[in-house]
Amino acid sequence: MSGLIQIFDNKKFVLSNSRISYMMQVNEEGILEHLHFGGAITHPEYFQSQHKRVLRSLSPEFQGMPQFSLYDLPQEYPLFGSSDYRQPALHARNAQGNSIFDLRYKAHRILDSKMPLDGLPSARDGECESLEIELYDELQKLSVFLYYTIYANFEVITRSAKILNQSANSISLEQAMSTCLDLPQQDYELLHFGGSWAREFDAKRHELPYGRFTIESARGTSSAQHHPFMAVLEPGASETWGRVIGTALMYSGNFSITLERNEFKDVRLLAGINPFNFSWQLEAGQTFTCPEVVHVYSGSGLDRMSQNLHGFIQNKVSPQTFAHAARPTYLNTWEAAYFDIDEKKVFELAKYTQSLGLDMLVVDDGWFEGRTDDRRSLGDWTPDKKRFPSGIPALAKKVKDLDLKFGIWVEPEMTNTDSALYREHPDWILHVPGRESSLGRNQLTLDFSRPEVVENIYQQLDELFSCGLIDYVKWDMNRTMTELGSAGHPASRQGEIAHRYMLGVYDLVNRLTQKYPDILFENCASGGNRHDLGMLHYMNQSWVSDMSDPIGRLAIQNGASHIFPLSTYSSYLCPVPNHQNGRITSLETRFNVGFFCGNRGVSMNLEDVAQDESAIKNFIQRYKHTAKDAVNGSFHRIFYTDNEVCWQLISADKQTIYVGYFSILTKPNAAFRSALLRGLDQDALYKKGTKIYSGSALMQAGLDLPLVSTTQNSDASPSRLSDKERVEVLDGGDFVSTIIVLEKS
Ligand code: DGJ
Repeated sequence: MSGLIQIFDNKKFVLSNSRISYMMQVNEEGILEHLHFGGAITHPEYFQSQHKRVLRSLSPEFQGMPQFSLYDLPQEYPLFGSSDYRQPALHARNAQGNSIFDLRYKAHRILDSKMPLDGLPSARDGECESLEIELYDELQKLSVFLYYTIYANFEVITRSAKILNQSANSISLEQAMSTCLDLPQQDYELLHFGGSWAREFDAKRHELPYGRFTIESARGTSSAQHHPFMAVLEPGASETWGRVIGTALMYSGNFSITLERNEFKDVRLLAGINPFNFSWQLEAGQTFTCPEVVHVYSGSGLDRMSQNLHGFIQNKVSPQTFAHAARPTYLNTWEAAYFDIDEKKVFELAKYTQSLGLDMLVVDDGWFEGRTDDRRSLGDWTPDKKRFPSGIPALAKKVKDLDLKFGIWVEPEMTNTDSALYREHPDWILHVPGRESSLGRNQLTLDFSRPEVVENIYQQLDELFSCGLIDYVKWDMNRTMTELGSAGHPASRQGEIAHRYMLGVYDLVNRLTQKYPDILFENCASGGNRHDLGMLHYMNQSWVSDMSDPIGRLAIQNGASHIFPLSTYSSYLCPVPNHQNGRITSLETRFNVGFFCGNRGVSMNLEDVAQDESAIKNFIQRYKHTAKDAVNGSFHRIFYTDNEVCWQLISADKQTIYVGYFSILTKPNAAFRSALLRGLDQDALYKKGTKIYSGSALMQAGLDLPLVSTTQNSDASPSRLSDKERVEVLDGGDFVSTIIVLEKS
């Protein structure tokens, strides 16, 4: 690929495709100044810096350069300590004990590809160009290499940074961010997502305050509390209007994303490893690589941002073997049987899986040595001798003889005090000397900062997977980190443990997914406690939340859809009353919410299924017939309120449109609702049963949604509504829903 990056006078760098431009320049002082990230700029050679040099009282100036201060200059990789008082991208302590560094432009080169990052997940190569810019501190002999990649077909720029210590002394890194984006002086709103266990991805939107606003994790995982993503919006931006810049970190550990706004309305976004509780000894000659960041720009609202991210993640982040493949429908044993499983019961469930018409049986937690509850056995990845005497390969073979695929659950990063692994290696957990380690779900975190621990788990999992009979692996991680210390590293390196842990996880996942490319891996961390681009680089999908109630899931799936394509998250039909919140919903509503996930299944036992068996079979057939559309279709949020949700999915061939409408609590005498659809062919005709609509009518006037009726005896019941031909009614009270299907003719 060529022509995506232009350089003018050896000092102005322009990364452009037909829709976006990212621009920067080396200014007179040699500082790399940020110029623009947004819509495509034509004739970039004439583009002028918007930074005004004026005397600001109380702002220090460079000697001999009156009115030049870094405090209000938009920069690409700023430092603290000369004249910029905002949060820096890099903060470090040198051999003299001070933290003053000074980075000036040194060199650059253009690459016609995307290079992988050292030991870290990164976006994939293809139809892109990359730019490397070296900034250098002459006194401290420190280089910072900034990496930028632009793709021909995505409104996306990826960035990362690598720090090289060329001095003879050790330097202590205290803050090494992946990116700095200094934005134009305007008002902004912020949109980010978070919550807690079973209510992940709740959308939070507010004005950018004066001062600093940070989302972060210090839990060791990217977390359910704050997902590593932030959108900066033009005030009032909607799904279809307004300029939006989204920033997603491709990292699964402690992160921070900070927005800072000073008295001049200069706005700085920093994203990277959380500097809190972090330090890194960078010895002479060593490099440190910061995780990658994806910046996405939309000039027309959140929908466009999501379309771009969805396409980018599916094509440039996800492992490509399964990225576009219809996913197998499955029965998962968890909500069907929890720990009460043995090979006989699993086989019974497998026969049931087959009779329901599903594609795969997944054995969740509870199959390995001694694992009869959540207090024991993590770390011992061999089948329980009493309950699974024939072993996993024999069980997998029997299941596969039923013409089913076979999947299995593991939680590789954990152990329990009651396990052979812990008894043999009590110092292999994250811990600090002299203190008891806190438990989370009765378990301890293995010290993945130590290569020998990673190697042990690799050997065990390799042994399990090598039978060649496993089609799917659910990789779980059910606690956050505490007593963050490692017996494998000296005192001076204890600030490195959380990041080294992540490098260990990525190493393990990378080796296993490379060795077993035909296994479909699903990421899970008590649901969505680590659903991020980092894990999705290695695994195609995530169990996005333990919340299996469809009404509880509406907000979660709606929030997650801002960033992730449907192909990356899973659902299953659960029993009622729901095990997480006790809610009773119809099978249809459970099906309809699950429909808007790329991976669909069931987690019910034989008795649960018996009540609705034929309906479940029908729904499973519908899941199977639409499996490709769920993975490859384009998804739009039509509206989302506290009481009503409407989603649209357009099949990849654009022939079929699915409109999901969900009503939470019924209101008497409700207003009529319609859905302004998106992404249709305006000249085409679309059929819904006997009705025909033009694409333009559906997008400009909308599709009528059914009126939700109250109880059978009320005035608004279907039998009382006068013109049933014209008014469609959704009967059934609370938690009702429908999927309307339109076919292009
Ligand atoms: C937490 C996961 O989110 C559940 O789906 C299930 O796999 C349990 N762990 C098993 O322990």
